[in-house]
Amino acid sequence: MKVTVVGAGNVGATCANVIAQDDFVHEVVLLDIKEGTAEGKSLDIWQTSPIDLYDTRVIGSTNDYSKTAGSDVVVITSGLPRKPGMSRDDLIATNAGIVKGVTENIMKHSPNTIIVVVSNPLDVMTYCAYRTANIDSSRVFGMAGILDTARYKSFLAEALNTSPKDIQAVLMGGHGDTMVPLPRYTTVAGIPVTELISTEKLNAIIERTKKGGGELVNLMGTSAWYAPGAAAAQMVKAIIKDQKRIFPCCAWLQGQYGLKDIYLGVPVKLGKKGIEEVIELKLTKDEMALLNQSAKSVKEVMDVLDNSQMAVK
Ligand code: LAC
Repeated sequence: MKVTVVGAGNVGATCANVIAQDDFVHEVVLLDIKEGTAEGKSLDIWQTSPIDLYDTRVIGSTNDYSKTAGSDVVVITSGLPRKPGMSRDDLIATNAGIVKGVTENIMKHSPNTIIVVVSNPLDVMTYCAYRTANIDSSRVFGMAGILDTARYKSFLAEALNTSPKDIQAVLMGGHGDTMVPLPRYTTVAGIPVTELISTEKLNAIIERTKKGGGELVNLMGTSAWYAPGAAAAQMVKAIIKDQKRIFPCCAWLQGQYGLKDIYLGVPVKLGKKGIEEVIELKLTKDEMALLNQSAKSVKEVMDVLDNSQMAVK
């Protein structure tokens, strides 16, 4: 099995590192446009193999897509990250051009691949890759929900002084401030979270989660990478190992939740065919209203892409 990670920035390199360490594929190719960066980071990662005891071959490439040929899964992390004061949507013009070019190159060399998009603005970049790749939507989807739920779970674990391992949660909607954490589907070792925490504290955690990416941008002057890279690697593992895991992912909706022709975060089942099922929860009126609001804001940015020079015809 072979995986390519495009973009050897912080997120891409972290993702490649986590995949290599976890030892579930034969080869990881890390590709970047910047001369030597991918080769250097790959060599550095590969040199951890005798320490951490894994076999995954890690190969670097400066923009030579022939090295990515025959990939089973490709993770696209390319594009500019946010700077303080920017929203993810501010990146659209630049990153759409990049994601389009990357997707074209990937499809030339790996026509049967599954594509996991990580570039921001996430929902719209996933749409851009889907339109460019022109393959079934079960094979093009985005990473955001695992990251956003991880932030939500980590805040809850801290507040409850409990292990993050015991927290289960669902979060839906776009990867932005309108994302929809769902307390009704949040449990701690099977116990509804609402029995363990006050509404006030839970609401504060939900608000912090929605702005979780921005909190890190403000602290570091650029966007996060450890959790985003690990989250993308978890999706790759579910696909490669045909795990049938249920994760919130950014998926193409065709009528589910009453939404159509939009990429949005929903719970899906991930296996070797990619998205094998979109899971439809019975949302309450209030939850549905929040999801619709999130869909509206994602759609607005999708329209910006569709009406721009970057539109994929
Ligand atoms: C974040 C970026 C990766 O949420 O979107 O940290």
